[in-house]
Amino acid sequence: MTAVLDEFWARSGPEDPFPMYERLRADGPIVGSAPEWVTTDYAVCNAVLRDRRFGIRPVGDPAPTSEDTSGNTLDLGFLDREPPDHTRLRRLAAPAFRPKMMAGYAERIADFTRDLITGIERRAAAEPDRPFDLIADFAAPLPIGVITTLMGIPDADVDRLSQHGTVVGSALSGINGPAEAAALAAANAELYELFSELIPLKKARPGDDVISYLVAASPDGITPYELHTTARLLLIAGFETTVNLIGNGIAALLDHPEQWELLRAEPERAAAAVEEVLRYAPPVHSTGRVAHEPVSIAGVDLSQDGWILLLLAAANRDPAVFSNPTTFDITRPRQAEHLAFSSGIHYCLGAPLARLEAEIAFTELAARLPKLHRPADPPIWRDSRVIRGYASLPLLAS
Ligand code: HEM
Repeated sequence: MTAVLDEFWARSGPEDPFPMYERLRADGPIVGSAPEWVTTDYAVCNAVLRDRRFGIRPVGDPAPTSEDTSGNTLDLGFLDREPPDHTRLRRLAAPAFRPKMMAGYAERIADFTRDLITGIERRAAAEPDRPFDLIADFAAPLPIGVITTLMGIPDADVDRLSQHGTVVGSALSGINGPAEAAALAAANAELYELFSELIPLKKARPGDDVISYLVAASPDGITPYELHTTARLLLIAGFETTVNLIGNGIAALLDHPEQWELLRAEPERAAAAVEEVLRYAPPVHSTGRVAHEPVSIAGVDLSQDGWILLLLAAANRDPAVFSNPTTFDITRPRQAEHLAFSSGIHYCLGAPLARLEAEIAFTELAARLPKLHRPADPPIWRDSRVIRGYASLPLLAS
């Protein structure tokens, strides 16, 4: 193993990972040694994600069919499944993310956004010198409000859900030690109970929401355990990622004041700004795949069960694909699709929703809080090497 790779595995969560990605890139498209490899290369990431010889689970490692109550693992529903189970379950959830549905969600998202900004404005008027936290006061509650609506979760359960969903969601970055495993097991049990209360209600009175679609398919199309894990996947995928798209995006815009000014002057650029944030500061930095049979790629021979870490965030700055890749430019001409939402059969199902939420958030924040800026108080990065975003991002509104 190279010294750079040793440092790569040993790095801490909050550290800026991009200099390390460039050092790895200098060592070639794929680095490491059997059975564990790492790539920073766009073409390799994209090829592996689209290649059916790679999968999520090792050959002969069947997906769980009931809950592991130890809290040491987190079953991520169809994100964790191979075809044909993956195909069947993804198809059941997909109707909630169709373009027609997005048009219906836009108004709700705009309402949530405006209410949250009104709260920030009120507090800023009372105490103009006191920073607010973009994460706690805006970027976290917005996706929680949106996903719970989309799932048809009653208002009374939203607080309970968001508390447990946050604990479970943070396990996406890995479980560090017994205390986290215990907290995860407890939160998982609570979510299980909550969905157990909700499912019969949806069976009795179906709504136009994703849990009702899944319930309508049971028991023949989806087992009770799968129903739970699918509901949990949608909940936490909606919680833990969009918050960082909004946080990373506003930070990038404010750190490049000419880009913020451009967005303010030409709000129709918001959708392009979202794409550039996804490329430049993506919330999910990596995913992994395992070879289901021997595969040769970019001069490296992977044996069956060889594992490759795909650094999506590094691929998004691959100079062979994106010109001036370290420049944040919302007017960037489209060169290639970034990999922030992955690629292939596991391409993010929630991508249209995340894009819509961020576009509305950027537009409204730029219009209503034009003087937004960073105070002296430093931000706090999340302690994760997979999900990159702020735990806290203090800002001043005027
Ligand atoms: C900016 C926000 C988001 C980002 C960056 C993001 C990123 C990703 C990535 C990278 C994957 C694929 C992982 C892999 O290939 O191993 C994924 C899958 C997925 N995402 Fe997202 N996501 C976001 C928002 C959402 C939202 C809002 C939802 C739903 C409410 C969602 C639901 C899903 C689901 C269900 C999958 C699994 C797809 C499959 O396995 O077929 N995501 N997401």
